[in-house]
Parts: sequence; structure tokens; C-alpha cells
Amino acid sequence: MDSEQQLRNEILERVFRIYQLREETKEFIPGKTRVHYSGRVFDEKEMQALVSCALDFWLTLGPKGSEFIKNFLDYTGMQYGLVVNSGSSANLTAVSALCSAQLEHPLLPGEEVITPALAFPTTLNPILQNGLIPVFIDIEEGTYNLNAQKLEEALSGKTRAILFAHTLGNPADMDFILDFARQHDLYVIEDTCDALDSRYDGKLCGTFGDISTFSFYAAHHLSMGEGGAILTNHLPVYRQAQSIRDWGRACWCQTGEANPNGACGHRFDHKYKNLPYGYDHKYVFSNIGYNLKPLDLQCAMGIEQLKKLPLFTEKRKQHFHMLYRALKKYEADFILPRTLLKADPSWFAFPLTVKPEAPFTRRDIVSYLEEHQIETRMLFGGNILKHPAYENIRYRIAGSLDCTEQVLENTFFIGVYPGLTEEMLKYVIQTFEAFINQH
Ligand SMILES: Cc1ncc(COP(=O)(O)O)c(C=O)c1O
Repeated sequence: MDSEQQLRNEILERVFRIYQLREETKEFIPGKTRVHYSGRVFDEKEMQALVSCALDFWLTLGPKGSEFIKNFLDYTGMQYGLVVNSGSSANLTAVSALCSAQLEHPLLPGEEVITPALAFPTTLNPILQNGLIPVFIDIEEGTYNLNAQKLEEALSGKTRAILFAHTLGNPADMDFILDFARQHDLYVIEDTCDALDSRYDGKLCGTFGDISTFSFYAAHHLSMGEGGAILTNHLPVYRQAQSIRDWGRACWCQTGEANPNGACGHRFDHKYKNLPYGYDHKYVFSNIGYNLKPLDLQCAMGIEQLKKLPLFTEKRKQHFHMLYRALKKYEADFILPRTLLKADPSWFAFPLTVKPEAPFTRRDIVSYLEEHQIETRMLFGGNILKHPAYENIRYRIAGSLDCTEQVLENTFFIGVYPGLTEEMLKYVIQTFEAFINQH
């Protein structure tokens, strides 16, 4: 009779064959095959990890989640981390944790958070969802990051935090931001959803702030299908983030863990305010929380993806430089991406801004590229305040938003992700050439 292990090996072998069959039929036909701006890049290892995890049938967050977060902490050198079900959930958890009444100096409703107006919606939303007031500042031309010089102008007696993304993987001015935050006792929240493995002054993005967030959505640097994470070096912030993620409960024992072996060690021996003595710590709720946990299946995939991260980063950099070298000659028409001296980005994508004096518009070039099967995207919300959802929010603006407006009107991006090939990138470059020659 077959043992379970034999059957499992057989299944995994067949999964490998399916992967190989799919690979054999892949072919790039210029002008016919879509050149995506991003996508998941995987091999049989991810498929086998997922199937094997499904066979384990654990389902909820468990051993694979613990293994992933341990590996992620080892990679980043951070002390505490949590997996969540998306980058958006990571942002919601991070900001909500800083608002927890369990912290010594929580953010309070009505207090202000400085943030760039060029934003992905769920970078901004947790500020609003927690009753905080966003104070919008402009970005810098070419880096697309918050203009740190504008922080001073945005400051008020109510400012408590700075929340920003390293736009498209391009590291923000961390020296300036951290100095400013220290000087004014502000929390720094780094949205690193698009900047995994980018570095500033040799240090990984997402390791500077009080808390940082990551996305493992299919299109990102590392994929779990959907997924995200939070990192911090502050134990109290980590505890509240875990509580917010896990229904708001006070206990930080893992699912299935119980006294005396549980991590908290105090399951039945406390008196919590109005609750009876010894009320089960697992059902004591200290925050108004959510359930934002991912499945173990997602983490099984993440474990395999993390091993490939250095190779992914190398490819992203190669692809970016290949495009940069080729498109530099069109600088009269486009603002090319710019980085700070200390920045070493692992680019999420390649942003371009059509200059006002160019003989074509963004709509012209984007339509042309799309017609030629080259995928493009706008730079997130452009000026997020122009979107219907934000018509009635409470906010302040500090200074002009001229560069943000320029992004709204004239910026788009194309892909550099590791799934692209040299052949595809050459086709992208030729298509730019053909377009420019027509104008
Ligand atoms: C800067 C930024 N923050 C947050 C998110 C949200 O991540 P997710 O799609 O995993 O919810 C994204 C999504 O692409 C993003 O670009």
C-alpha cells in the first residue's frame, strides 16, 4: 500500500510536470504578447509549496506564517514582524496600532499626520479611518517622493506623525525625514509596499521608521497572491499591531497555544478592569480590532518567494537601467526618474512624465503603447484629493501641490519586473522609438 509520503511525492512530481508543460508553451510574439507592467514570477517550487500546504490542510495562519515571518525578520534584521492579508491591511494595522490606547503616547483623533498628496488610496485611508487629519504636502519632480523640505511648512501644534510611501521603490530622503521627526517627536510610518529590497545609505527601506508596511500582492516585489507584513523594533507597538490584526484581543498567544505553554503565560490569572478575575485572556479585548490574518497557504508561497528576492532585485535593476539608457535620448520630451545620492532602489516600475512642451500628450503615448500591447499605469491616484471618495474629508494642505498636479496630468509608468525578458524590453524601446519618430 502507498504511504502518505509516497502519494505526496507523486502529487508534487505531477505539479512539477504541469509547471514544465506551461513553460514549454510560453512564447513572446512582439505586438501580440502583452508586455505586462508587473506580475508574479514563480517556478515549480511555489506551486509545490502551495499544494503541499493544502495537503497539510492547516488552512488558518500557522507554522508557515511563523516560518515566513522568521525568515523575513532575518532578511531585514528587524526585531518584530507580523503577516497580514494585504499591504492595505498592513497600513490599517500600523496606523491603528499607533492609535491604541494601550500605548503610552497614542495618536489621538483630531491630531495631524503629514503625508504626500500623491498617494495610493490605502496609504491615506487609515489616517481617515482612525479620525486623524491628513496634512498634504507636495512631492518632488522626478523622485515622486514627498518633498521633505515641505515638512516644516506642514508642521502645527497637532502634528504627531509622518506617513509616506517610497514611491515605486525609490527611497525617500530618510536623513531629512528622520532628523525632522526626532526634532519634533513624530512617529514615522514607512509604506514600503513598493520598495522591498530598496536601500537608502546601504540600509533597507522599511527599517528606518517606527513601523513599516509591505505588500505581497501578485504585482509586487514578492508575491503571496495577496498578502502583506508589518515590521517594527518597538515591542509595545508590535503587541498592539498583533491585537489589531487579531480581533482586538489582548492575548498574544498563537492560535492553539494555551497556558502554561502560551507566550503570554497569564491565561486565567488576571483581573482586567470590569471583567471577573481569571477571565480567559484569549477573550479579553483591549483594542477595537479586525481580523486581517492571511492563510498559511499564502505564507507557504512567501517562503519560496523570499529565497528568490536577491535575484528578483538584480533583474529589476537591470531592466530599469536598460530602459533608462535607451530613453535618456528623449529627455527633451520626458522627465526621467531621479534618485537621491544615497538611494539604491529596487524599482517597482519605470515612471515617465511627459513634459508640457513635448509634441504629444500622455494620452497619445499611453494609447500608442497599449495598442502595441505594452501595459501602462497611472502613478496611483495622482493627486488623491481629486478623487470622488475624498471630496468631503477633513484635511489641510501645506503649500502648493504643483508637482502632484503634474503627475495627475502627465505621468505614467511601464514595467521593469523580473518576468520581463531582454527581448520584451527591446520591443518596448523600439516602440518608443517608433512613436517619437512619428512626432
Ligand atoms: C504604496 C502602496 N501602498 C499600499 C498598497 C496596498 O497594497 P495591497 O494591494 O497589498 O493592499 C499599494 C498597492 O499596490 C501601494 O502601491
